[in-house]
Parts: sequence; C-alpha cells; structure tokens
Amino acid sequence: MIPKYIRISASLLAIDFNNEEVLDKALADIEKNGANFVHLDVMDGKFVKNKTFDHTFVDKLRDKTNLMLDVHLMVENPEAVIEKYAKAGADIITVHFEACKDIEKTLKQIKSLNCIAGVAINPKTPALKIRDLLGKGIVDVVVVMGVNPGASGQKFIPGSAEKIAEIRDMDKNVFIEIDGGVTIKNAKILRLVGANIIISGATIFQSKNMKKTIKQLKGKAFMNNLMDHFKK
Ligand code: DX5
Ligand code: ZN
Repeated sequence: MIPKYIRISASLLAIDFNNEEVLDKALADIEKNGANFVHLDVMDGKFVKNKTFDHTFVDKLRDKTNLMLDVHLMVENPEAVIEKYAKAGADIITVHFEACKDIEKTLKQIKSLNCIAGVAINPKTPALKIRDLLGKGIVDVVVVMGVNPGASGQKFIPGSAEKIAEIRDMDKNVFIEIDGGVTIKNAKILRLVGANIIISGATIFQSKNMKKTIKQLKGKAFMNNLMDHFKK
C-alpha cells in the first residue's frame, strides 16, 4: 500500500551552496519549514555537463543537519564512488539506470552499506526498463526525472507523470520520487498518480513563504488517504 504521507526533499542545487552563510540559512529554513530530506545533486561533468561537488560536501553537511541526506549521483561508474558517499553519511543513494553496467549489483552494493537504494531514470528511459527490479526488494526508491538531469529550474516534461503511474501500477510499495520541474500546480497530479517523495529546488527556494509552499507540495492529507482508498 502507498504510504499516506508525502515527503519533501529540498534540492540545494537551487541555492549558492558554496556560500557557507547561504548554505547554513537554507538548511535551517528547510528544517524549520517541514522538509524531510536534503537532496544533494552530485554531477561529475561527464554523465551530465555540469559539475557540482563530491563526497566531501556530503561529509560537511552531515555535521550541519539532522535531516536525511538524499544523494543523487549523476556520475559515470557510480559503483566506484558509492562507498565514499555511504561513509560520508548519505542516507539515500540514488544511481542512474543509464550510468550502470549492472544495476542490480550496484543497488545491492548500496544496501550492503546500510543505505537506502535508489535508481533514477531519465525522461527518455521507459519505465519498462526497470520492471525486473520492482517487487523484489532490490530497489527502495525509484527517482523519475521530470527534466533532463543537469540543472535546477527547468520546465517539467509531461510524460514523466504517466511514467510514475506506470511504475506505481507495477509496484504498490516502492517509494517514487519525482525530480525536476515540480511546481505547486503539477505536484497535485504527481501525488495522485503515485509519487510519494517530491524533490524540489526552485519552487521551494524561490518562494516567499517556504512553510506554505512545502505544505502545498505535500498536499492535503485527505488526498493521500483518498489514494489509499482507491487502491483497496
Ligand atoms: C536536476 C536535479 C534536480 C534539480 C531539481 O538534474 O537532479 O534535483 O535540482 O530542481 P528544480 O526543482 O528546480 O527543477
Ligand atoms: Zn536530483
């Protein structure tokens, strides 16, 4: 059954994360205003054009916040660096389906390090590609990309909502995260089709009232319950 509660993972890609003051304020703000996870976008300049940070940044954040650290690895050969992120204090480690030679082995590696294992799929990757991973305890979280990975503040690609519905149809229990282009408006349909973790950068950090925005992204509890009701 789908969990009743929607979690919010706030993406630091939307802020100037190299500025210590900005970073500390962002972490305090998201914790105070109801976010559940800190979403950390690791980019290696190869899997995606941009470069961000490595495991040393995760290590630094572990000392700064009690929120769960949701690490999204947009890197080639993630299996070579996963252990470093686990040791740095990551709670969730997500690798890209498109970047892995043996996705099942990589997800097992993440779990063996006592982390929650996620697989992300790009807008062009069909849901069917991950069907064999579902319903077997191999993967804990599926991250459906709502944009092409690489930057914050992009426009949502509509087909991603249908993909969430397809995955939810294949697995009632897996956590589904939606990443990229989420707004208060499209969050409603994303929740209804089965997403239960919403990643957001621009919508959260550009809002004038962060508490209200996070509440709106989470949606009303009755909506979540209604979803459960339909599944009975
Ligand atoms: C895109 C990243 C996202 C991004 C989301 O490559 O994986 O996590 O930060 O940012 P918004 O919500 O601004 O699209
Ligand atoms: Zn991300």
